[in-house]
Amino acid sequence: MKAIQFQPGIALDQPNAALEVELPTPTAEGHDILVRIEAVGLNPVDTKVRPGADAEPKTLGYDAAGTVEAIGDAVTLFKVGDPVYYAGDITRPGSNADYQLVDERIVGRRPTKLDAAASAALPLTSLTAWESLFDRLHIDPAADNSGKSLLIIGGAGGVGSMGIQLAKLAGLTVIATASRPDSKAWCLELGADHVVNRRESIPDQLKAIDIPQVNYIANFNNTENYWGIMGEVIAPQGHIVLIVEQVGTLDLGGPYKLKSVSVSWELMFTRSLFTTADIQHQHDILNRVAELIDAGKIKCTANDSLSPLTVENIIKAHTLIESGRSIGKLTITK
Ligand SMILES: NC(=O)c1ccc[n+]([C@@H]2O[C@H](COP(=O)([O-])OP(=O)(O)OC[C@H]3O[C@@H](n4cnc5c(N)ncnc54)[C@H](OP(=O)(O)O)[C@@H]3O)[C@@H](O)[C@H]2O)c1
Repeated sequence: MKAIQFQPGIALDQPNAALEVELPTPTAEGHDILVRIEAVGLNPVDTKVRPGADAEPKTLGYDAAGTVEAIGDAVTLFKVGDPVYYAGDITRPGSNADYQLVDERIVGRRPTKLDAAASAALPLTSLTAWESLFDRLHIDPAADNSGKSLLIIGGAGGVGSMGIQLAKLAGLTVIATASRPDSKAWCLELGADHVVNRRESIPDQLKAIDIPQVNYIANFNNTENYWGIMGEVIAPQGHIVLIVEQVGTLDLGGPYKLKSVSVSWELMFTRSLFTTADIQHQHDILNRVAELIDAGKIKCTANDSLSPLTVENIIKAHTLIESGRSIGKLTITK
């Protein structure tokens, strides 16, 4: 099969940063399914794990949509021919290839109302937003959450775009950050009640909308830059979820202690990395997201698309993602 592999230690703007190579098509065993890839979605993680100088060439790509080509002997959730989507496993070869092996327990059935490219936009950010809100912040989507407020830092990003929609479905008041007219419009379109400009004083803007303190914060962009602001605007006994590893150390004292603030980490790859007992929860989340998409309760966040899946387009996609200016999701169709 063909795969596109990033080469060790070669900068993105240099020739041969990535190459198309011929590899053996892998065989599905145990809980693995072999998926014929039809489209992939791009995420910042793709750019963060390009191989360094001492590493081996690497097939990247996490978000994918495709069709089941073969199944392992322990597979019970899928059969050959099923259309699927998933965010994969950080420790295994990725989706920038003709075929990929993935554990069935982290795979969902594709939304029926979306094509492969639109489906590939969803898994990684949906899982991250879902796990952040419902598994880490312990927001109960079935409870009456009116009167509860959530600040989403990075509202127009891939994760924020899904986070806004899931939080609105749960009945929260959502305030999202966005710093440009088009990212602000995108957040409002997805249902954010308010948008604050991250380049201006967030505490002042929250006071101006009469929500000086929020019950929850989902920091979907940068941990250390917002640490002081989060301590200031989180309500007493509030809860913060973080998804981006901090640079330097964080001081959990001061307002964090005075207000008895809870801080949780979310890593979308934890369940697959440790094969946790509840690994199949990701299958359930992806199926639920597909149902919500098909029922028109949430919108697909795809916003830009390239085709076909070539070295040139993958390099272009990595460059776009690294700019930090993406709105919604970027996909590549095979
Ligand atoms: N832990 C996990 O499991 C997990 C999962 C997914 C992603 N992540 C990480 O989470 C981060 C966001 O991922 P993503 O896919 O949502 O990214 P993304 O789509 O690339 O985010 C782009 C958006 O971020 C906003 N932004 C840029 N700089 C910002 C800043 N300093 N503060 C607040 N917003 C800023 C921009 O909007 P404006 O410029 O208009 O404000 C832009 O629309 C990445 O670092 C990614 O690696 C972690």
